[in-house]
Amino acid sequence: MGWTSLADLFKQHGKNISLIIHAAAQPSHDWAAREPLTDFTVNANGTLNLLEATRLLCPEAVFIFTSTNKVYGDTPNRLPLIEHGKRWEIEPNHVYADGIAEDMSIDQTLHSLFGASKVAADVLVQEYGRYFGMYTACFRGGCLTGPSHSGAELHGFLAYLMKCTMTGKPYTVFGYKGKQVRDNIHSADLIRSFDEFFRNPRIAEVYNIGGGRYSNCSMLEAIEMCQEIVGRKLNWTYSEQNRIGDHMWWVSSLSKFMGNYPDWKLKYDIPQILKEIYEENRERFSGQ
Ligand SMILES: NC(=O)c1ccc[n+]([C@@H]2O[C@H](COP(=O)([O-])OP(=O)(O)OC[C@H]3O[C@@H](n4cnc5c(N)ncnc54)[C@H](O)[C@@H]3O)[C@@H](O)[C@H]2O)c1
Repeated sequence: MGWTSLADLFKQHGKNISLIIHAAAQPSHDWAAREPLTDFTVNANGTLNLLEATRLLCPEAVFIFTSTNKVYGDTPNRLPLIEHGKRWEIEPNHVYADGIAEDMSIDQTLHSLFGASKVAADVLVQEYGRYFGMYTACFRGGCLTGPSHSGAELHGFLAYLMKCTMTGKPYTVFGYKGKQVRDNIHSADLIRSFDEFFRNPRIAEVYNIGGGRYSNCSMLEAIEMCQEIVGRKLNWTYSEQNRIGDHMWWVSSLSKFMGNYPDWKLKYDIPQILKEIYEENRERFSGQ
């Protein structure tokens, strides 16, 4: 949405707007590399448009931005990782053993063009909080998912994996021996975290948000779980080449958010998320 129509919308409703959840984005790394100007216009300028409309027309509103762990670029790949049978794991005594915290640097790292435009947006959201005293928060997501997630080959890990297992569509695992680890958070748990922030907002906050230690899996573990739930084998192949800058191990530390909002707790773990994606998409995927 361009500035003029956005400003009109905010002029119309400004005083009645108490919460903005900004989740609009160009979310694909590969697409961003093909069209960097469009990617930056959507992800960075689009965020600036929303922030400015909020500042001018409803500055007391709470502004939540769905940022991403890609703001840390490929820095997580420099962590000391140990190879296990089915997954990479961080050294058990490392300071990030319970998950990567918000103090990891976002500087001097390979972000991808998508990651760079999200960094620009993330920093703007923080700045509007700090400089203008607004209630802004960046929620730096790991993998966000749920039964309505439209998974595609390069975006939406669990949803797409389950879709391929259910439909027999071929699936390719890219690099890292299939042992790369992701934490996954169900949309219901994520929305409850937004709700906590909305009810008790703070200024210029940044939170890593994901499944943390409670809800994470490697690619190989996820394939096994999908096969068990669906009762059939996934038709998958392995490609040696990993995706550029792809994380080998990402588990979010939830300590900061839970310290600020102690009533919030994750409800969904990986098997529950996968079962729900399966149950709620049986009709949708049948015949595909
Ligand atoms: N899904 C994940 O694992 C994940 C992880 C971290 C962060 N995020 C972030 O969460 C948000 C939602 O991601 P998603 O996975 O649901 O992707 P999605 O593609 O399903 O959602 C993005 C939405 O943005 C809308 N959009 C795109 N350009 C727009 C524009 N110019 N104006 C208005 N709307 C526009 C699209 O129509 C789409 O509905 C994004 O900001 C994404 O970067 C997602």
